[in-house]
Amino acid sequence: MNGSSPRREIKNHKLFEIATEVANRVGGIYSVLKSKAPVTSLEYGDRYTLIGPLNKNSAAVEVEEIQPEPGALLDTMNAMRERGIELMYGRWLIEGAPRVLLINTGTGYRWLDEWKGDLWSSAGIPSPDADHETNEAIVFGYLVAWFLGEYISRDTTTAVIAHFHEWLAGVALPLTKKRQMDVTTIFTTHATLLGRYLCAGSVDFYNNLQYFDVDSEAGKRGIYHRYCIERAAAHSCDVFTTVSHITAYESEHLLKRKPDGVLPNGLNVKKFSAVHEFQNLHTIQKEKIHDFVRGHFYGHLDFDLDNTLYLFTAGRYEYRNKGVDMFIESLARLNHRMKVSGSKTTVVAFMIMPAQTTSLSVDSLKGQAVTKALADTVGNIERSVGKKLFERAVHWKDGDAMPDEKELITAQDKVLLRRRLFAMKRQQLPAIVTHNMVSDSEDPVLNQLRRVQLFNQSSDRVKVIFHPEFLNANNPVLSLDYDDFVRGTHLGVFASYYEPWGYTPAECTVMGVPSITTNLSGFGCYMEELIENSSDYGIYIVDRRTKGVDDSVNQLTDYMFDFTTKSRRQRINQRNRTERLSDLLDWKRMGMEYVKARQLALRRAYPQSFDEEDDFDGEIGGTDQKISRPLSVPGSPRDRSGMMTPGDFASLQEGKEGLSTEDYISWKLPEEEDPDEIPFQLTL
Ligand code: UDP
Ligand code: G6P
Ligand code: GLC
Repeated sequence: MNGSSPRREIKNHKLFEIATEVANRVGGIYSVLKSKAPVTSLEYGDRYTLIGPLNKNSAAVEVEEIQPEPGALLDTMNAMRERGIELMYGRWLIEGAPRVLLINTGTGYRWLDEWKGDLWSSAGIPSPDADHETNEAIVFGYLVAWFLGEYISRDTTTAVIAHFHEWLAGVALPLTKKRQMDVTTIFTTHATLLGRYLCAGSVDFYNNLQYFDVDSEAGKRGIYHRYCIERAAAHSCDVFTTVSHITAYESEHLLKRKPDGVLPNGLNVKKFSAVHEFQNLHTIQKEKIHDFVRGHFYGHLDFDLDNTLYLFTAGRYEYRNKGVDMFIESLARLNHRMKVSGSKTTVVAFMIMPAQTTSLSVDSLKGQAVTKALADTVGNIERSVGKKLFERAVHWKDGDAMPDEKELITAQDKVLLRRRLFAMKRQQLPAIVTHNMVSDSEDPVLNQLRRVQLFNQSSDRVKVIFHPEFLNANNPVLSLDYDDFVRGTHLGVFASYYEPWGYTPAECTVMGVPSITTNLSGFGCYMEELIENSSDYGIYIVDRRTKGVDDSVNQLTDYMFDFTTKSRRQRINQRNRTERLSDLLDWKRMGMEYVKARQLALRRAYPQSFDEEDDFDGEIGGTDQKISRPLSVPGSPRDRSGMMTPGDFASLQEGKEGLSTEDYISWKLPEEEDPDEIPFQLTL
């Protein structure tokens, strides 16, 4: 691109980050953008704008509209508005409050046919009529390219980096190349389409990566045109990246371009001022899960909640890719082993995955209602007994009999209590699903639970609850937001077969909740690389790469079984160790790879700005805030002296050394804490 144009100033360059999940939660890309916002905003201030399609419902909640400053951005927006494009500009109401520009794709559809024709003639990308998702991607891509073109024709002196996420936002990439726009571009893929599709079927994916006939495989699955968009995006960006080494390898074979680097996903890690605050939060949130369980198992609550462990899996409903099949099979084996070993512990395993439902089931609602009514009645009786006891006591004189407890509960109280108890009677077992499913008899999770006969029988040590909806504190049945729910659980289980990164176990880690993942997930591989004996740190990694399925299932079962044999003290210690890994996942560290990718993009587009004499750090500005080393030394037991940066993979530091890697070389193993010296444990 762009070599012919006058040199743009790379100092104080502008950054646009383009994705379909800007201020609109779908899956993990939203988590990337949202959690990264504080560090990127700190680095760029108002030179940073996220661009996404306008989703009015979520924008109404997540975005506060503001007027842009007079200048190139406003002029560009006005030019597009004049041609009928609806744009919303504002602050995303999240930490870091980055600016967002949301484009109503609906207002661009009148050019759809023209743009499809152009995409075919200029990039050879076909697009069938009926694929709504692709149409959206095309319209959004053309609108973004339009925006960028207008913008750089008005702001002619500063360099512009356009960073695109995922194929859905990638159509603009071949257009920037074709139109020779003077911008530099980065494409980050968070998966490959073919990878996701192939893995969801019954293909031995990882052993055959090199051999797939990609065009034909895409064609067979009806996604050839989408695949073309993804491949064009990967080939037309200046810097191509992905989120993990495993997906880099996959991209190389399926998209036919080796990524320039890996940008692993971080999190916005919150440190509590009191070191053990997260342990207290666990207790508070676990109590809320107890409340749900009391309601769900009403009439059958024959297990001890104080000796109950909460396991869960969560994510988009990709049955095989997210490893739910393996999880359920392992739960069945765990149930068997716990029974045989005479375990007194109960495991309640949650599956949180949105599926098509019609409503919450009557039984779920009833369970919560009857336990709530019972709690209210008991509360009333408690108050009236307390009041009467106090009155008797306050009138007591020497020589009087002690107040008699039999007189304290009235006949009316007893009738009311009896009525509540009778309302709790029920014949059928506690349900394995909380909602009415649209296709109950075809649902893979339900069918597998039926196959392995996990029915919440009294004798089962493993109980199961499928919650086919993302969590929300306003839900009348399981009234918790996802983060709070995770805090209250004991172990997250993510047995993924296809998982480019996998935020769910990473989120567990920073909340101090141990998790099980696999060596086929980006996160799992990342942690395995970084930590020796990771299970001591509450990071269990199932080998799904070299083991056969049955062995992997057994390994997962072993991990879970061993976990159920831990004492409370051991669990608490393990949570402390898990939480100490948080710094490893903090964007303050991980964000370094984004910085490097942007440097490389600038370097490739404006090599003349990187003369020998140039002081690179001074030149690009924006990175004055040097991403610092974590304040506390991360709790990783592996001595990484001389190690690479978080995403070290390929040539992100092409040419002259960019930001220093020194920041990472002095990680040390912290001295193992003496568990007996942990203050809060003294209260146990
Ligand atoms: N998640 C959520 N509510 C839920 C369950 C999950 O918001 O009830 C979020 C979770 O916090 C995570 C995301 O969904 O950030 C899933 O991201 P991941 O990278 O694990 O998978 P993806 O869906 O992107 O494949
Ligand atoms: C936290 C609290 C402790 C509590 C413990 C329960 O650590 O600070 O007071 O006893 O959680 O742990 P458990 O693994 O049994 O839920
Ligand atoms: C994708 C992947 C997931 C990853 C997320 C964020 O949706 O499926 O594994 O965590 O993107 O990168």
